[in-house]
Amino acid sequence: MDKIEIKSSSHTFSGELRVPADKSIAHRALLIASLNKEMTKISNLAFSEDVRTISNDIQSTIKCLADIGVQFAEIKGNVFVRGRGIKDFIQSEGILDCGNSGTTTRLIMGLLSGQRFESKLNGDNSLKNRPMARVIEPLSEMGANISSENNQLPITISPGNLKGGNFNLSLGSAQVKSAIIFAALCADGETKLKEIKKSRDHTEIMLMSCTDNIKIVENEITIKPDPVVKVESFNIPGDPSSAAFFIVAALLNKDSNLTIKNLCLNKTRIYFIEILRKMGAKIEISNIVESSGEPTGDINVKTSDLKSVQIEGDSIPLLIDEIPILCLACSLAEGESKILDAGELRFKESDRIKTTVSELSKLGSGITEIENGIIINGKSSLNGGDCDSHQDHRIAMMLAVAGTIANGETIINNPDCVSISFPNFFKALDNFRK
Ligand code: S3P
Repeated sequence: MDKIEIKSSSHTFSGELRVPADKSIAHRALLIASLNKEMTKISNLAFSEDVRTISNDIQSTIKCLADIGVQFAEIKGNVFVRGRGIKDFIQSEGILDCGNSGTTTRLIMGLLSGQRFESKLNGDNSLKNRPMARVIEPLSEMGANISSENNQLPITISPGNLKGGNFNLSLGSAQVKSAIIFAALCADGETKLKEIKKSRDHTEIMLMSCTDNIKIVENEITIKPDPVVKVESFNIPGDPSSAAFFIVAALLNKDSNLTIKNLCLNKTRIYFIEILRKMGAKIEISNIVESSGEPTGDINVKTSDLKSVQIEGDSIPLLIDEIPILCLACSLAEGESKILDAGELRFKESDRIKTTVSELSKLGSGITEIENGIIINGKSSLNGGDCDSHQDHRIAMMLAVAGTIANGETIINNPDCVSISFPNFFKALDNFRK
């Protein structure tokens, strides 16, 4: 599909919805199951190109793991994984293709750094432009043998000699933290990691449920190497980052009363809900239960009048993927909103400061780019326009939600990239057409 058209005032977001399973947890479930020599059952694994697809052609994490000897079978919608333990993966015959997925690349780099064979990794044009020094540097400090031009893909990882050590992480990146954790599992000696800025913590939570070799005291994670990883099953809850598009759609469109079921409610993932509540959003959380160490539950959203907000500092890693859709909410909120300290947005699937500002400007938002952030003067309405996803799934979905509320018609060019995280996104949106 070259483009999609969304008509204004044509939606109301009421009823119940389930969104695809959480992508971050899915990547980790697959990686951790690969460390278990017995069979692991994964229920509700996301269908998304970063993880797996129905046609099985683009499925970054599953494909890379299968290429290094992990076995997968799908029975009645569940995925069964037979892993290989910590250090017994086998060399891939070809280059490992990480597609569009930064999470696949960075997490698997940690694991491959501790293996006894050479691996080559590559990805699509967007991924080839993303920074890998953040992972190459700490892994090399541990003794990994990694070569690349300009610290970007393609990357070659040769056998190294990993040693534990002490790390202070200042970036606030779960991908970097997780790469070090996976490498630490294969290293000689203990590794201690201190996070200065808290980032999503699924890797450590999920590993703790499968081995005693991981301990957390306050902001320090201690990893003892060579664990025997034992896990029977992972059940993956809905992805709050995907739900965020429908939450904002319900807030902005008239007469909405939407319940999104079975969502991951991990605190490092739903900080955007705190921000929206601060802006005046009517959002209720209910039915909280624990599943695979993660809280899950339902979220109800009603149409709300929003006011401006300031988001900065340590809160940025806790809502980094939700910033484009929060910018849409701020565009229609009363007053001036500021998003500061958000330079990391420039290193996502697109430069999300530039792409969010350029595309929302086309719809008449009072949005401006600053060095490490975005300033938004809220308005009472937006106008339809001709926009582009820049091949970034979260920009495409944010623009589609904007299209439901902007006056006139909104055209989104290159919308197919939504398959990276939410293949049925436009169908789900269409179900709320009046
Ligand atoms: C992710 C972490 C975040 C996020 C990405 C998924 C993860 O990246 O933007 O979509 O699953 O670990 P960083 O940790 O690099 O900020």
